[in-house]
Amino acid sequence: MVLSLSSHNVIQYLYKAGLCSSEEGANTDSELPRTSQKNFNLLVTLPGNNKILVKQERFIDNDGEPQEFFNEWLFHQLLQQFPVLGNISVIASLVVHFDEEKSILVRHYLKEYFELASFYQKNAYFPKAIASAIGISLGALHRATFNRREYRDFMATAPQGQFRYQFYNPAQGIGSIGPEIFGNVPTDALKFYVLYQCYESLEAAIAELAYEWNPCCLTHNDLRLENILVHSRWERLDNCLVKLIDWEACSWGDPAFDLGTLVASYLTIWLENLVVDSTIELEESLLLAAIPLEHLQHSILALILGYLDTFPRILEHCCEFVQRVIQFAGLVLIHRIQEKINFEKSFDNSGILMLDFAKVLLTRPQESVLTVFGISELEIVKFFTNSAQLSHPKRENNLLRIYYEKTRLRGC
Ligand SMILES: Nc1ncnc2c1ncn2[C@@H]1O[C@H](COP(=O)(O)OP(=O)(O)O)[C@@H](O)[C@H]1O
Ligand SMILES: [Mg+2]
Repeated sequence: MVLSLSSHNVIQYLYKAGLCSSEEGANTDSELPRTSQKNFNLLVTLPGNNKILVKQERFIDNDGEPQEFFNEWLFHQLLQQFPVLGNISVIASLVVHFDEEKSILVRHYLKEYFELASFYQKNAYFPKAIASAIGISLGALHRATFNRREYRDFMATAPQGQFRYQFYNPAQGIGSIGPEIFGNVPTDALKFYVLYQCYESLEAAIAELAYEWNPCCLTHNDLRLENILVHSRWERLDNCLVKLIDWEACSWGDPAFDLGTLVASYLTIWLENLVVDSTIELEESLLLAAIPLEHLQHSILALILGYLDTFPRILEHCCEFVQRVIQFAGLVLIHRIQEKINFEKSFDNSGILMLDFAKVLLTRPQESVLTVFGISELEIVKFFTNSAQLSHPKRENNLLRIYYEKTRLRGC
């Protein structure tokens, strides 16, 4: 039977794995408050006061194979093999041990850093310098790996005994639903699926995003604010302000998805603080938020400007990059709603508003650029492109309309 880690056996495990010189003097702090649904996390203080984070994957797929930790381990090996990447401090690997059989991953714990999500939540303060540092860091990662075949091939490695036929395309809508939905989600939440299925333009926009998905660099794929750490003395530092952690979902992917995930994370702060009432229109609710969009806008703008300043070449590669970022942000919002339904079993009027807003981002990205960043797409890209590139070729609708049978909920 596979060992199930707990605060009682973790020190013994670390000792046997050679990560702890003696069982004396080491102690388990506590399970981390933010332990996710999929992993079990333990914080351990070693003799000498160094801290490590010990993680065990809770859900293992049907074949009993560890899945996500393998990606972080692969990423760690990539950085070791190619020091040019390993030297980018913001992504520097913290992994010290991987046990494939037991699905355990151990990382150095950075005591002097704090989680960005908690910082924003506690202070409701969104300094431009932090967002800009994130944009610059992400731009550096994408730029350094852009179109580099050797990194791509490395990331195509699959766990032993498995095959990786292609990289995961995250531009996917809500999958087909079956009768089991009635047992799995609360009745209120069925409305989400009903509404989602009513919007054909939404499905078409997602299908187009999937069609144009262009994997060309190493992507993190899970840039929620919980996976970004900020140095406690960030105000006095010029660099090393931030660290990107939790590389379990990383792969070869489309850079617009990473940036879109970040934009969605900022928008969520706003959208989760709306005043929602059946008598209030969407526009009015959006204006009445406890944390208004304007408070976040300068950070969202600093994020993309920092990114494009570091990696302007992406605009040559994809002239509609900014719009695609917005569309991915919409898609991520939809998936966040679904996550909330699955894990918290809740969906209310604020979820409906979030879905409506996500739909606007996906189906009207050009107008939405102005809403989200506070300035137009042209104003954003003009600093980084020459005038010839500024005139977009008109977007062609290169998708044939394909109708496919899908279970629809009554009401649509
Ligand atoms: N190396 C680290 N240094 C400091 N804090 C960390 C580190 N790794 C994780 N954390 C903290 O622990 C939380 C959970 O870790 P994470 O690897 O993201 O787990 P999960 O897979 O459960 O999301 C993070 O959101 C962060 O607050
Ligand atoms: Mg995480």
